[in-house]
Amino acid sequence: MKHAGTDKELHVKEILKLENVCKTYMEGASGVTAVCGVNFTVHKGELTSILGPSGSGKSTLLHLMGLLDRPTTGKIYVDGLDTTKIPPDSQARIRGRKIGFIFQAFNLVPSLTALENVELPLTIYDVPRDQRKKKAAEILTRLSLGARLDHLPSQLSGGERQRVAIARALINDPEIILADEPTGNLDSKTGQDVLQILEGLHHEGKTIIIVTHDESVVRITEKVVRIKDGKIVKVEVLS
Ligand SMILES: Nc1ncnc2c1ncn2[C@@H]1O[C@H](COP(=O)(O)OP(=O)(O)O)[C@@H](O)[C@H]1O
Ligand SMILES: [Mg+2]
Repeated sequence: MKHAGTDKELHVKEILKLENVCKTYMEGASGVTAVCGVNFTVHKGELTSILGPSGSGKSTLLHLMGLLDRPTTGKIYVDGLDTTKIPPDSQARIRGRKIGFIFQAFNLVPSLTALENVELPLTIYDVPRDQRKKKAAEILTRLSLGARLDHLPSQLSGGERQRVAIARALINDPEIILADEPTGNLDSKTGQDVLQILEGLHHEGKTIIIVTHDESVVRITEKVVRIKDGKIVKVEVLS
C-alpha cells in the first residue's frame, strides 16, 4: 500500500530539487565526471529509488543530495533553499536537522556501542546525556535492538549493524532519509527486513530516497529513476 499523503497534486512540497547538477572529481590534471546534467525533484513524503549499475554515479548523487559534498556546477535546493550558495557550516546545520544518511558500509564507529553510535549525532547539539541515551534506546528498541544496546558493531550481525545505522539516521527525526544500497551488504531475507523498515518510515510520512543496483528494491517505491553513466535515462512513476 502506498502512503496516503503522497498524491501527485501540484501543491505537494518540493523538498529536494536538483537543477543541472554535475560533479567532476579532480584527479591530477584530468577529472572524472561522475554525474552530469541531472534534473530531479522529490516531493515531501515520496519514496523514490534511483537504480543503476555499479559506477553509474549513484553514491555521488546521494552524497550531493545529502549535502555531504558540493556539485561542481548546478543547484541543489532543500525545502526551497539553494544550498550551493550557503557556507559549509550552514549546510552542515541543514543536513543535521533535515537529513538522515544511511551508508552502504554502515559507517559505525567500531569502538562505540550500538547505543553510543546512535546518540552520536545528538552530541553536537546540547542535548543532555540522559536524554540522548533515552532517545537512542527508544529508537533501537523500535528496530528490535533493545537487547543489543551495549554491543559493539563487531558483536552484531550485518542486519543488526544496518539497523543501528538506520537508528542513527533517525535520531534527529529528519524529514528526508537517504539510503545508499541499504540491502547491498545483506542476505536477501535480512535485506527484505530492512526494506520493510524503510517502508514503515515512508508510511509515517518520511521522504525516502534509496539508491541501489538491486531491482527488488523497486517493489516498495513509488518512483524509479534509472541512471546510467551519470545521467538520468528514465523516470517511472509506479501506481
Ligand atoms: N572520490 C572520488 N574520486 C574520483 N572518482 C570518483 C570518486 N568517487 C567516485 N568516483 C568515480 O565516479 C563514478 C561514479 O561513482 P559512484 O558515484 O561511486 O557510483 P555508484 O555508486 O553508482 O557505484 C565512478 O567512475 C567512480 O570511479
Ligand atoms: Mg555506490
